[in-house]
Amino acid sequence: MAGGVFAVEGNDSGFAGRLTMSVVITCIVAASGGLIFGYDIGISGGVTTMEPFLRKFFPSVLRKMKATEKNLYCVFDSQVLTSFTSSLYIAGLAASLVASRLTRALGRRATMVLGGCTFFIGAVINGAAVNIAMLILGRILLGFGVGFTNQATPVYLSEMAPSKWRGAFSTGFQFFIGIGVVAANGLNYGSSRLEWGWRLSLGVAALPAIVMTLGALVISDTPSSLVERGKLAEAEQSLRRARGVNSDVEAELNSLIKTTEVMKAANQEPFKTIFERQYRPHLVMSVAIPFFQQLTGINVIAFYAPVLFQSVGFGNDSALMASLILGVVNLCSILVSTGLVDRYGRRALFLQGGTQMFLCQVAVASVLGAKIGVSGKETLSKDYAILVLVFMCTYAAGFGWSWGPLSWLIPSEIFPLKIRPTGQSISVAVNFATTFALAQTFLTILCHFKYGIFLFYAGCIVVMTLFVALFLPETKGVPLELMHTVWENHWYWRRFVKRESAPTTLPKQMD
Ligand code: BGC
Repeated sequence: MAGGVFAVEGNDSGFAGRLTMSVVITCIVAASGGLIFGYDIGISGGVTTMEPFLRKFFPSVLRKMKATEKNLYCVFDSQVLTSFTSSLYIAGLAASLVASRLTRALGRRATMVLGGCTFFIGAVINGAAVNIAMLILGRILLGFGVGFTNQATPVYLSEMAPSKWRGAFSTGFQFFIGIGVVAANGLNYGSSRLEWGWRLSLGVAALPAIVMTLGALVISDTPSSLVERGKLAEAEQSLRRARGVNSDVEAELNSLIKTTEVMKAANQEPFKTIFERQYRPHLVMSVAIPFFQQLTGINVIAFYAPVLFQSVGFGNDSALMASLILGVVNLCSILVSTGLVDRYGRRALFLQGGTQMFLCQVAVASVLGAKIGVSGKETLSKDYAILVLVFMCTYAAGFGWSWGPLSWLIPSEIFPLKIRPTGQSISVAVNFATTFALAQTFLTILCHFKYGIFLFYAGCIVVMTLFVALFLPETKGVPLELMHTVWENHWYWRRFVKRESAPTTLPKQMD
């Protein structure tokens, strides 16, 4: 391992990060793995407010919607309706845990292809659904699909990107999630007018699956993964393509080979290794970061934006339009992250974004509290509804440049190669488990807590922002092979990690 470290320090070119067109294109194509996840997030909320869909599958919700005496906070409070949305996450959770073995054995790219194909089949079944069983089966397959791709894609991006630009490259994944969300919202807006619009919305999910699967088929796997699987010639080729045909990739390749040899010699079971004391900081982050990401309350907004806007007084059409606006704002803000994450670092974005999101949640709670109160019998006037939308957009922007992309980036970059896929798996599983729990309970909680739910999330944001301030080391620009140094130098975590080398000075470009 130490050999790898010295090789890194001795070589400034390969590792440091020359930006080639080839690596940029490859990573854009790979990042499109986020499309299917985003499409699903964006589509389910809208579909569950479409009347023909509710009439066919969830007539009791429709009856409640039409009732004259209704509490606005409680209209959509139906366990069956929520299980439709969240069944995907249980399947995704199971798949993400299996995925770490697949990504190690078959490579990152093959896992992405598998994810795309499974999602495709799920989309076709959903589009053709004639009963709830088909709906749920389709969603389980979609869940397997995103379980595989969400595990493999962030790791792919982190391993392929030059370290100096790793943050920017990784935001690509969240960017494609954002594109998926917006495309889905846009489609919902149009298809909600058609009797069979829900079929269109659910079935068109096959398209992003085709795009990402074809994309994954044309890119090469990451050098680390190829070395790990003994494909040295291909690894060299992939590295050369990524770093530039004329660049000297020997040192980087040797370092990868050494790291892999050490890993293989130890022959440890990664799911055991990851629980060793020295990996405690890594493990804590891979659990805490996705857990906290969900406690920002983003999916309250993402899944249920149309429902929520209807609940606070927007008509059906304008509710879908409002969530479309929200999606576009979110998408643009991810680009802000792309531009800033390698310049100002991860921590600065987390702290700024957290503060902004906190303020917005408090503001939304205040408006709803003052104007609808707890009775939920009054609708918001147009002006106030727009004010809520503005706060939510500001919130979504804060998420878009902080917890959105960074929650995928951090777990994919902090682990040593031998437990990287395992760490990413745990992280995706925690993301899905928390999303599931929140999705399953959100509508009921909204019905009981009313506007107080936004204060709950505001409180969580305070906790997570303090957590980042105290415990998350800055990883900006640190080559993956030198990542252990950030823990060794951290005021708290250094007591857990074994020093892998003499106190390490990081390469110049990172100062
Ligand atoms: C989160 C999702 C969320 C999405 C919103 C992702 O990073 O993991 O839960 O719905 O961002 O764009």
